[in-house]
Amino acid sequence: MIEVQHLTKRYGPFTAVDDVSFKVEPGEILGFLGPNGAGKTTTMRVLTGYMPPTGGKAIVAGFDVFEQPIEAKRRIGYLPETPPLYPDMTVRDYLTFVAKIKGVPRADRKARLDSVMERTRISDMATRHCGKLSKGYRQRVGLAQAILHNPDVLVLDEPTAGLDPKQIIQTRELIKELAGSHTIILSTHILPEVSQTCQRVVIINKGKVVAVDTPDNLTARIRGSETMYVQVDASGADAQGALSQVPGVRQIAVTETRGSVTGFEIDSEPGRDVRRELASAIVTRGWGLLELRPMRMSLEDVFLQLTTQDAAEPEVAHE
Ligand SMILES: Nc1ncnc2c1ncn2[C@@H]1O[C@H](COP(=O)(O)OP(=O)(O)O)[C@@H](O)[C@H]1O
Ligand SMILES: [Mg+2]
Repeated sequence: MIEVQHLTKRYGPFTAVDDVSFKVEPGEILGFLGPNGAGKTTTMRVLTGYMPPTGGKAIVAGFDVFEQPIEAKRRIGYLPETPPLYPDMTVRDYLTFVAKIKGVPRADRKARLDSVMERTRISDMATRHCGKLSKGYRQRVGLAQAILHNPDVLVLDEPTAGLDPKQIIQTRELIKELAGSHTIILSTHILPEVSQTCQRVVIINKGKVVAVDTPDNLTARIRGSETMYVQVDASGADAQGALSQVPGVRQIAVTETRGSVTGFEIDSEPGRDVRRELASAIVTRGWGLLELRPMRMSLEDVFLQLTTQDAAEPEVAHE
């Protein structure tokens, strides 16, 4: 539904987006994750036809955004970083104006407006001037204008930025409701956002794609195997011998010893949960099992690792 191919955007000598490629399947929510300045907004502006690329192309619903801009834009709803509201217009007048521009037929306009305002929970603000809205409402009116012409594709630039926690949850729910009937790409610099909303993530840093995967795979893949931390009250050598016999265990390292207590980091085969076997190997020998926990990296760690490696090679992932 969305295809970005070798997209590059330079501002003068500065390369903001560098050979970025990815795809979004119909009905999918793709998270576009990266620190501030990574190139998210630039990519979205190019993708929505607001700015030409320096190189590469973007195809939305089968239309090249630059060669067939009108056809493409008809199928895109865009929530820019700052919602494009007119401060002196009331919410209803503004949305009526947008509906006209976007070619919503006159006969459908009122019903369409009412349903979109209902959906984005702004009906009670219909007569309020846009300039007088709180940040949360401005963002929702921005979302309302993006979905007004019922586009196939929604491009949302940091849709929850600046909202309070309750509004963030409401916005996430609304986005999930919209998925399925729409294909969505949303950008964010906050991690929990992607694991809670998105099926797949593109991580971008300094204009380059550093990873494309599901939130779960990203977390697991970076290690290649699962690691457990186990703390046992037993002689280190005996415990090491016993634990290394557990099926599925690949590697075992002593990370601490304190009196009779030994801590191990145990690598196991990916996808194999060895916790029960480890526990029973310890307990049946009469040793004390003091701690047993997975050391899987959090998405936070993955993100840091991917975005702070200087020599990070662009990585093309399982798609
Ligand atoms: N109009 C512009 N002219 C020059 N540099 C720009 C312009 N817009 C953005 N940049 C630079 O391009 C980089 C990417 O910006 P942006 O796409 O806004 O990142 P993000 O949305 O991920 O925070 C930043 O270093 C930013 O300073
Ligand atoms: Mg941005």
